[in-house]
Parts: sequence; structure tokens; C-alpha cells
Amino acid sequence: AGTQPGFIPSTPADSLNFATMPTAHPYYDVLIIGAGAAGLMCAGVAGQWGQRVLVLDHANKPGKKILMSGGGRCNFTNLHCTAEDFICANPHFAKSALSRFTPWDFIALVERYGIPYHERDHGQLFCDRSAKDILNMLLAECDMGHVEIRTRTAIKDVRVGPPYQVDTPTGTVQADALVIATGGYSIPSMGATGLGFDLARSLDIPVRPTRPGLVPLTLEGKALKRLEDLSGIALDAEAGFNGACFRENLLFTHRGLSGPGVLQVSSYWEPGQPVEIDLFPGVNLGDHIRSVRQQRPKMELKTLLGERLTRRVAQRWCDLWVESKPLDQLSDTDIAQVEQACQSWKIWPSGTEGYRVAEVTVGGVDTDALSSKTLECRAFPGLYFIGEVVDVTGHLGGFNFQWAWASGHAAGCAI
Ligand code: FDA
Repeated sequence: AGTQPGFIPSTPADSLNFATMPTAHPYYDVLIIGAGAAGLMCAGVAGQWGQRVLVLDHANKPGKKILMSGGGRCNFTNLHCTAEDFICANPHFAKSALSRFTPWDFIALVERYGIPYHERDHGQLFCDRSAKDILNMLLAECDMGHVEIRTRTAIKDVRVGPPYQVDTPTGTVQADALVIATGGYSIPSMGATGLGFDLARSLDIPVRPTRPGLVPLTLEGKALKRLEDLSGIALDAEAGFNGACFRENLLFTHRGLSGPGVLQVSSYWEPGQPVEIDLFPGVNLGDHIRSVRQQRPKMELKTLLGERLTRRVAQRWCDLWVESKPLDQLSDTDIAQVEQACQSWKIWPSGTEGYRVAEVTVGGVDTDALSSKTLECRAFPGLYFIGEVVDVTGHLGGFNFQWAWASGHAAGCAI
């Protein structure tokens, strides 16, 4: 830390051979690849601790995903953030960073900048005006730390150090510490690449299998044909996979299923397995049918189901799985069948809409290779992985940004 540009500290002074010494490259304390949420947070913190920081990004401007997040309003954190809101092979890993930089720490920063925000369902906080407010705040924090940000800079090669060396089209830069904050594969059109994963693999740092998360599920063939014309209808439902269960809206789309509940479950879903959906969450449907039957025995089943499912979905369910009849003609077996069709509805997705639209990448750099306190790589002192490139994936609702802030802050303080 505190080295001058052009000075190569790892070369002992008495072994310098001026005839063969390569041209000195610009030297920084910290080099960060990726000017996204985690990279900018880390840069601002490290810069304000007095480190000389350079951030490199191949995109034309920093923080592009921040700008498009939360429908342009950036769901920047969640009031109820706990380690249980994250998917990670080691469920305890995220606790340390999350506890040292909490949603309240980020809110304090937002309030210091006078950024107006509001709370939506489930403790999600959004900007009142625009996600630009959050990006401008991070850039102002970087400015305060005299951070240099270079965009439109392709990374040609990375050599492990210290000094860490990164080749760019305009030359090589060096630093004592290298932070990989390149995010995941999601939305390649916004600049996402697998650079962080590839770099980790090339250094034999384990990477857990990656897949798109928070992504609509697709259906094919008969399964799609049965539902595609319901496209646009949203219902309160519970979607579950392997013990993970989310009660939020489900949306029929012309390619399959989406909506917050389905996006949440998609992060857990494994190909070839069914997702189970309860269209009457929190209701004992059998009891409900029997009780309505006492008062209105001639009511048609599809009418009763339609009160909650919409007329079109109820009609479709009756066409597909349970014949609609007056309630007083339903046998116990019929009622059990209705319960099965509505509350344990199994869909077998053919896949997901992929990284093209996924909000996150599940999986990534194995947390066993990293310190949970600093995010430094155990095998390579001075090498850090932060944000989405790490095998820590948040649920929908501001958790992914909270991880980006917390992991960026942890590394920024530790470097
Ligand atoms: P991030 O992706 O932000 O940044 C990575 C940076 O690295 C980018 O600037 C990229 O250009 C750069 N980079 C990549 N490859 C490179 C290479 N080869 N060379 C140089 N630079 C390279 N989360 C949340 O909590 N609330 C929300 O509202 C939303 N909304 C949302 C909407 C949409 C449409 C998406 C796609 C995602 C969200 N998210 C979200 C998720 C959130 O955006 C995401 O988890 C964080 O941005 C991750 O931050 P990182 O800094 O790790 O990666």
C-alpha cells in the first residue's frame, strides 16, 4: 500500500538489472476489474482508506446493471436481509460480510446523499426517482477516494502477483491487490462475461456449476399449448422446489411461467425436475368447497374456482383436470382431485429463458476458496473475488445488491 506509480516493490532493489528491466508499468495499490455494484463499492471504500485505486471495465460506462435494475428504480436493499436469503454451498459464508455492512449501513449512505426512497412489499427499498441516484452516489464516493475509473478497457491478460499485472490494449497496469468484480453471465448484452469464472478456473480456484437464476421458466409442447393463451394472467400462488417455497405472484407468459414467485423458485430449480404450484396458498381447498357447498349447493365448481383463479384459468383447469359440476354433485374423490390439480399442480419446465434475461447467475467461485471475512482468495494473497462472481446468490428483492455492497465493503476495508 502507498506505493508510487512506476515503482515495482516486489523486485528487491539490489537485484535490479537496469539493462533487462522492462519499462515500469503504472502501479496501483488496488486494481479492480468490473465497475459494477460490488466493484464501485469496493473502490470507494479502499480509495477512502487512502489506497490508490484503479477500476477497469470493458463497458462504455460504469454501473450499467444498476441503471436497469428494479425497473429503473433500483431495489437497492432489503430491510429483512439475513443469510437465509442467499443460496450458497456454504450457508454460513455470507454471514460475516453481511453482518459488517448491513442494509442500515447502506440506507445511512443513501440518506446522507438525500436520495428519496420508499419501501415496497417484503421490505424491498427502491429509489423514488431513478437508479441513477444510486450510481451517482457510488461514483461520488469513488471520487472522494480519488479512484480512477477506466471504461471501454478490454482485459487481455491477467498475471498473478503481487504485483498483479493486467494487460489492456493501452498497456499493462500493476497492483499489490487485484479484485475481481466482474459479476456473472446474466445479460451479456449489458457487458456480462465469464471473465471472473475463467480466471478462477485458470488458477485452479474451484468454481461451482453456474446456471441462470431469477429467470422465467419455459414450457414446451403439450404443456405450453395448454397454457399459452392464458398469457398475461397473474395469480397469487406458492411455487416450490425441493423445500424452497415462495408465495408471490405467478404470471402466465406466452413461453411458460414467470412472476416473482416463479423467478424465486427458478434459482433452485434443477432441469428434469417438476416445480410444484399451489394456486390456493394458505387455504384448505377441500374444506372451502364443502363449506360453500352447504350454502350454495348448485354453484358450479368452475365458478367457485374462478373467484380466486380468474374465470379463464378456472375454466381451463376444469377442461384439463376436473370436470365442472354443481358442488352438490362432487364426490369426495372429485374434491381430492380438485385439491390435487389446484394445490399440488406440477409443471415440468423445459428450461429457462436463459442468461439473456436472467437477473443473476447462480453458482460461481467456490466460497471454500475465499475468506468469509475479507473475500481474499486463500491460495493467492492479494486476490479478491466479490459480488455476483462468488457462489452467493440472493433471492429477489434487493438481496443481490446487498451482497454486492457487503462483499465490496469487506474487501475494500481489508485490502
Ligand atoms: P455487475 O454485473 O453489476 O458488474 C460487473 C461489471 O464487470 C460490469 O460493469 C461489466 O461490464 C464488467 N465486466 C464483466 N466482464 C468484464 C470483462 N471481461 N472485462 C472488463 N469488465 C468486465 N439486484 C437487486 O438486488 N435489486 C434489483 O433491483 C436488481 N435488479 C436487476 C435487474 C436486472 C435486469 C438484472 C440483470 C439484475 C438485477 N439485479 C438486481 C441483480 C444485480 O444487478 C446484480 O446482482 C449486481 O449488479 C451484481 O453486482 P456485481 O458488481 O457483482 O456485478
